[in-house]
Amino acid sequence: MSLYVNLAELLGARIEQGLYRPGDRLPSVRALSVEHGVSLSTVQQAYRLLEDNGLAAPRPKSGYFVPIDRSLPALPAISRPAQRPVEISQWEQVIELVRSVPNKDVVQLGRGMPDVDSPTLKPLLRSLAQLSRRQDMPGLYYDTISGTLALREQIARLMLDSGCSIDPADLVVTTGCHEALSASIRAVCQPGDIVAVDSPSFHGAMQTLKGLGMKALEIPTDPLTGISLEALELALEQWPIKLIQITPNCNNPLGYIMPEARKKALLTLAQRFDVAILEDDVYGDLAYTYPRPRTIKSFDEDGRVLLCSSFSKTLAPGLRIGWVAPGRYLERVLHMKYISTGCTATQPQLAIADFIEGGHYQPHLRRMRSQYQRGRDQMSDWVTRYFPPGTRASRPQGGFMLWVELPESFDTLRLNRALLGQGVQIAVGSIFSASGKYRNCLRMNFAARPTQAIEAAVRKVGETAIRLLAEAATDA
Ligand SMILES: Cc1ncc(COP(=O)(O)O)c(C=O)c1O
Repeated sequence: MSLYVNLAELLGARIEQGLYRPGDRLPSVRALSVEHGVSLSTVQQAYRLLEDNGLAAPRPKSGYFVPIDRSLPALPAISRPAQRPVEISQWEQVIELVRSVPNKDVVQLGRGMPDVDSPTLKPLLRSLAQLSRRQDMPGLYYDTISGTLALREQIARLMLDSGCSIDPADLVVTTGCHEALSASIRAVCQPGDIVAVDSPSFHGAMQTLKGLGMKALEIPTDPLTGISLEALELALEQWPIKLIQITPNCNNPLGYIMPEARKKALLTLAQRFDVAILEDDVYGDLAYTYPRPRTIKSFDEDGRVLLCSSFSKTLAPGLRIGWVAPGRYLERVLHMKYISTGCTATQPQLAIADFIEGGHYQPHLRRMRSQYQRGRDQMSDWVTRYFPPGTRASRPQGGFMLWVELPESFDTLRLNRALLGQGVQIAVGSIFSASGKYRNCLRMNFAARPTQAIEAAVRKVGETAIRLLAEAATDA
């Protein structure tokens, strides 16, 4: 990658993380040139790139500044979940969300759906069609339980980008990341076991724990740096935790990327207490900065990290192709995968392998990453404009979800009900907590290219929230 792109991404990440606030002066061209050992023109090119992305604005004779109109909502507070293992609730709210099907009359801001309309996905559709036309019908056969070798080879190549050197023989292709997570949980835990989770946390993994009779211990989590290692250490001292389940890269729902030093420190903690780590990397390739962030798995030397991912967020969820790199749990995971779906469908595996081998994956990612980053800025702007004053929102570093925090007493279940007849759907915050916390929060999807209809939907959410708050104030 060019030096100036590297520098622009470094500065961009600092601005995104709030180290420089709107109106702040950015380091001078000369200072950056000395600090990074690059030429003045490299720094100028980096600043021009930041300018194009709306992250820096020049002022005559004064240098570069963070644009004033980049007024972002304040970040959500660090979470404070229950400090003990709990039985998981919230299934009713989760089923309500996942039951919904695409409906042209409803703007679905709640689902974890990527944009599948991009022309960069066309070669994938061509591969699927070509496979269907082949005389030898390769897609109609069972393949090995580990998954099609051609795909595992491509996944192993992609994983090099996250710092992981994995033999294709150590990968298991699964039916989505969902199956990767559930096979991994069953490979490590027994009913009754305690699993530490980030909080808020992906509801799919928590509902899997619920279905398997396990308990979740939610750990306080910072909206910029992820799970609190201090709180996790205390929890490990206090409880017989079997597994730590987290999404450290482009977290769902908060969007943060855990800094590399904290990833290493978390692994050291897991080694000290001899606990396995379930790392969900399903959004990792959608980080806005390039090169993409490393995984905890990339530092793992004793095979205690089970890395789960899929092509559901990067390509399309309907393909249902995921994978797990289970480390020392390979045999157990294979068994658990076998009893759940046997082999994974062959045709989409062959098509994805062909798509990646044909060189189409990286151009597609490049396009989606910048679309999602622009979507994030647009959605944050709408929240600032249309939501009640004082609303807080996450500052995602990748992916396509925004987490919004309304005043403490607000109830997004009521908001969702009020939105039902208005053709808008959101994800209520309580499904991201084992014990139903975060009722005052919601999650919105900004994957689709912004349209007037989406803006109108976000506006309806904000205006309905303002109305409900006013009603509550009158009732009080
Ligand atoms: C963090 C996270 N993990 C896993 C999944 C499930 O992925 P898949 O559709 O590949 O099963 C999702 C989907 O929403 C997710 O957000």
